Amino acid sequence: MAMFFNIFSLKNLLVLSLALNASLILRGLYEKDSEVIDGGLSVEKQEDTLMTTARVLSEARATQRARPSMHSSSSTADSDGGDTIINLDHGDPTMYERFWQQAGDKSTIVIPGWQSMSYFSDAGSLCWFLEPDFAKEIIRLHKIVGNAVTEDRHIVVGTGSTQLYQAVLYALSPQDAVEPLSVVSAAPYYSSYPLITDCLKSGLYKWAGDAQSFNKEGPFIELVTSPNNPDGYARQSVVNKSGGILVHDLAYYWPQYTPIISAANHDIMLFTVSKSTGHAGMRIGWALVKDEEVAKKMVKFVELNTIGVSKDSQLRAAKVLQVVISSCQYPTSLGSLFDFSAHLMEERWSLLRAAVRQSGLFTLPEFSPGSCSFLNKSFAPQPGPVAYISDHS
Ligand SMILES: Cc1ncc(COP(=O)(O)O)c(C=O)c1O
Repeated sequence: MAMFFNIFSLKNLLVLSLALNASLILRGLYEKDSEVIDGGLSVEKQEDTLMTTARVLSEARATQRARPSMHSSSSTADSDGGDTIINLDHGDPTMYERFWQQAGDKSTIVIPGWQSMSYFSDAGSLCWFLEPDFAKEIIRLHKIVGNAVTEDRHIVVGTGSTQLYQAVLYALSPQDAVEPLSVVSAAPYYSSYPLITDCLKSGLYKWAGDAQSFNKEGPFIELVTSPNNPDGYARQSVVNKSGGILVHDLAYYWPQYTPIISAANHDIMLFTVSKSTGHAGMRIGWALVKDEEVAKKMVKFVELNTIGVSKDSQLRAAKVLQVVISSCQYPTSLGSLFDFSAHLMEERWSLLRAAVRQSGLFTLPEFSPGSCSFLNKSFAPQPGPVAYISDHS
């Protein structure tokens, strides 16, 4: 913990999360027992290099302030007399605020006190707590962006995709198995996966680590996060044996982060507004699920866990998606939400690359460009999560 406070007492802190997530760094800071963290960087060295890069990035941001730019109003306020303080506790997607400010009342909804009182949204449907208007906008959005197949899929809404992740684990684990089902993902993976998987020490499932070295016999769940958090690469399943069930976390499969090459067509796909529109506080995610029984069990989990999902949030999410869709059809001066956010990501990546180049201490991943069917241009991925920085020396 001492190291944590050392680093946080600095006036300048390092932005490793370009936008939305700083969990990789956090994991490094909290993992006291381990000398070496991702990328083979020793903790001592990490502290050193964090400080140096914090200075370099701070200088880069000062340069950015001198130019007109599209950066968010609330990302890193200079309330301390010029030094930049960045909260590394969590990535927070407030960077799209400007777009939503410009949308103004178009994204406002009013919910009278007598509305949304029932537990039920659509009592007869498989996901009885899913607001039909929200379901409709999800389908329209995927169609217009072209990033996922929605035909022959059940939509399950969740309190963030974090709840849906747990619902999937519950749904896929046999209730009568003699031992917990193994859950794996290829390293480096989103650092919350193991924590969420094991937090209740479930008898149904258990975190089993890196998918690349997984060789246990029997059934397992493999999480495929594409683009991946934290390194931004497009991913496919890596476990080369039968008995696995794939869960695709597509939180970042949106045109601001990566070219949309084709409509994802997997059995279980997870999405969230926190990464697509920037509305993390709404706590809304959705799953597209092919198998009816799996979808029913996921619904059961959400029922047992929170008896459904906030209707108010779903109605607001429906409105937000409506505005996103209409920004694609009738772009404003900022373009569509995806034009705006893709530009922002491009700008941030170019700043980070310049700063890292100047530091001479790190390397950043290089991505090959791909042709995006939605933005109609070719570009290299510009991931939202933590940039993966490795030691050069
Ligand atoms: C890959 C990935 N999946 C899921 C989540 C969680 O999303 P939500 O805010 O919808 O719970 C995150 C958040 O950082 C993420 O990076």
